[in-house]
Amino acid sequence: MAIHWYPGHMHKASKEMVEVLPRVNLVIEILDARIPYSSSNPVIDALSADKPKIKIFTKTDLADAATTRLWQDEFEQQQQTKTLAVDLKTEDRSEQIVQLCQKLAPRKEGANSLVMVAGIPNVGKSTLINHLAGKHMTRTGDEPAVTKGQQRINLRNGIMLLDTPGMLWPKVENEPSSYRLATTGAIKNTATSYEEIAFFAADYLLKYYPQMLSRRLQFDRLPATEIEFLEALGAQRGCLRSGGRVDLERVSTVFVNELRAGMLGAVSFETPAMIEKELAELVILQAEKAAREEARLERRGGKKKSVRSR
Ligand code: G4P
Repeated sequence: MAIHWYPGHMHKASKEMVEVLPRVNLVIEILDARIPYSSSNPVIDALSADKPKIKIFTKTDLADAATTRLWQDEFEQQQQTKTLAVDLKTEDRSEQIVQLCQKLAPRKEGANSLVMVAGIPNVGKSTLINHLAGKHMTRTGDEPAVTKGQQRINLRNGIMLLDTPGMLWPKVENEPSSYRLATTGAIKNTATSYEEIAFFAADYLLKYYPQMLSRRLQFDRLPATEIEFLEALGAQRGCLRSGGRVDLERVSTVFVNELRAGMLGAVSFETPAMIEKELAELVILQAEKAAREEARLERRGGKKKSVRSR
């Protein structure tokens, strides 16, 4: 499945972000703890290599804590990068974040440090900004916005936040990443189907979280395949069509919504080792594709030559 969901407003927002990045002193990138790699924006890392960064993992209550730790260690190896894992529903870590910003990007000559806050849709960006801004929140106000899409919020402690619209990127190169973005709810449901997501998620959970599934869903015997799993769940939940057949669309919707809400347990959908393997495979696939394209062009060139030589 290749999910193509890149509405025009995201293209514009991405361009605006690229334009303002040189003036930014520090970048806060908000990542979904369930998919820290797939939710990180490759454009940000590419264009802000020289800037300090704080990567905030949200929704840690929904993610596997041990895997989140692995990801934090992985990201902290990147230059000038600090990480913080937080459950925004129950924790307000704004003081710690402000102190970290002041340390990593101290204000110079009385000027505020410009701190860009970026993240994919639905990752918890507004919740975090509300925590940070607290009583200083000035959604529209005296500070001129850099662009219409971006918003400046003066925290009055030497930090000027630059809130950017939630955005994805035009092409998610690694296909499993697009499934993960859809599974966690970053890609709109209209761009894909619940059934497609449910098949992906059931396959993943059967492979990596079988005990959790058995325990939560109280199956005597865990089904072996994703279709058997969805049929068993459909029968258990009464998602049936006339004639007693399981309504796959209905059970898929129930399953995906319960999974997103954490009702099936805390799940991480990728580990550093998984991503390393997928990226190595992607390099091979891309090389094969490039070789096929080159061969095709050569054949075309050859044909043209042979036509000319006749
Ligand atoms: P956004 O600006 O990046 O689009 O995200 P926003 O803050 O609006 O948060 C999107 C949803 O994610 C909200 O749920 C929010 O409560 C939830 N959320 C944010 N951080 C966390 C977290 O750390 N853990 C959990 N479990 N959820 C988090 P919602 O259903 O849209 O609204 P509501 O539940 O707050 O009413």
